[in-house]
Amino acid sequence: MSASLLQALGLGATNSGTYLGDGRWSGASGAGVLRPANPTTGEVIAEVQATTEADYEAVIARAQAAFKDWRTVPAPRRGEAIRLCGDALRRNKDALGSLVALEMGKSKAEGDGEVQEMIDIADFAVGQSRMLYGYTMHSERPGHRMYEQYQPLGLVGIISAFNFPVAVWAWNSFLAAICGDVCLWKPSNKTPLTAIASMKICNEALKEGGFPDIFFLVNDAGTALAEKLVDDRRIPLISFTGSTQVGREVAVKVARRLGRCLLELGGNNAIILDESADLKLAIPGIVFGAVGTAGQRCTTTRRLIVHESIYDDVLATLVKAYQQVEGKIGDPQDTANLMGPLNSRGAVEQFLATVEKAKAAGGKVETGGTALDRAGHFVLPTIVTGLKNSDEVVQHETFAPILYVMKYSTLDEAIEMQNGVPQGLSSSIFTQNLKAAERFLSAAGSDCGIANVNIGTSGAEIGGAFGGEKDTGGGRESGSDAWKVYMRRQTNTINYSDSLPLAQGIKFDL
Ligand code: UN1
Repeated sequence: MSASLLQALGLGATNSGTYLGDGRWSGASGAGVLRPANPTTGEVIAEVQATTEADYEAVIARAQAAFKDWRTVPAPRRGEAIRLCGDALRRNKDALGSLVALEMGKSKAEGDGEVQEMIDIADFAVGQSRMLYGYTMHSERPGHRMYEQYQPLGLVGIISAFNFPVAVWAWNSFLAAICGDVCLWKPSNKTPLTAIASMKICNEALKEGGFPDIFFLVNDAGTALAEKLVDDRRIPLISFTGSTQVGREVAVKVARRLGRCLLELGGNNAIILDESADLKLAIPGIVFGAVGTAGQRCTTTRRLIVHESIYDDVLATLVKAYQQVEGKIGDPQDTANLMGPLNSRGAVEQFLATVEKAKAAGGKVETGGTALDRAGHFVLPTIVTGLKNSDEVVQHETFAPILYVMKYSTLDEAIEMQNGVPQGLSSSIFTQNLKAAERFLSAAGSDCGIANVNIGTSGAEIGGAFGGEKDTGGGRESGSDAWKVYMRRQTNTINYSDSLPLAQGIKFDL
């Protein structure tokens, strides 16, 4: 099954992890080998050769040359290139979605959903390519015109995480491409195969359409190459998705060279359920948010803040719903399953250590709390009660399906709890009370980059700007005006008069 899937996507038992341009994949070895494993069985799926230093330099040189041409291609024409990528992804959605499920471990439906995000952002980018708007201003000087324009930035380094192994690349690279940039992608070393497959699909579509190379790929068996990329002054923008801890290091390194950073780091997302919440919506919203992708989305619901009047009822209903999910844990390729494995053995260990920590802090495991005794990295979706929001374990993002359920009595208190963590990515309230909803969305409400009413914390659409505040890093990707980070901004003043009046009325007569 996996051999034919790999073959359908142009992959073999051994693969080059370096796209050099001109349709060429490097044959070099010696920089280490990546061995992505199927989280369902623990078996290695295929091997990938990491990028050598010499190849890295060759890729940078090729990308720099490509940028010189690409930046002058009219933006709507650049959009046409991305339209072809979107079409090619549509044709390959089923296969690429299956490979995401195989290599990352999310359910087939979510793997397909991730490819759908790529297609959606391609469509969005095509439209955006005709809308790279700048303002015009009225000059204070007679016979002068002022405006601003956005110009291509250069090379964009994209470092993505295992949990959204392809969509995050597409959010960045498709927008960067219509902005006139050239992208260099370093995927997670746990998911290089989905990256190679995505590159093949898009680069072949570009080639067939007569477009030049704009997407390059490097792979790192350890972290040395990623560090080099982050330090590389030839790459003006580093887009990094990953943990807050690593993101902080990336930010410092990029700041040292005064480069630009786009950070998408951890979340510790909460849902507030007030006394008026419609539980028909709230319960599935909570369960999908907390259990979907086995708790490995940065938008996963990690905390549930429930009004004391409905707490017992909600907890009992949730425990029942979790036990239903337990019957649907298994191979993500099987569409009957709702939850797959965690991505690695290390993730299972972190899950178990967190459960122990929660218990030691006085937490009660209401359901779950253990790993499954079978091959692969399966754990049970877990609910913990009895902890305070301020407890260290609750303050921390554990990338696993653990939900902390807590009580509140006033909305102010609930909002304070929701905001009372270092991270600031996604948040939501389930309420039928207009005042409560508006208060949650007000300046005194949620402090997150994403704040929802009557939907959960995860599963954001690509049309909105995606990202968050505080330890989440402050970056915004995907929709709205997120394209601006991929461009350099320029203010232009043109004098069409016969004199040279100075701004601020300054006199400087020679
Ligand atoms: C991530 O987990 O890194 O909002 C991205 C969501 C998805 C993207 C998550 N659209 O859950």
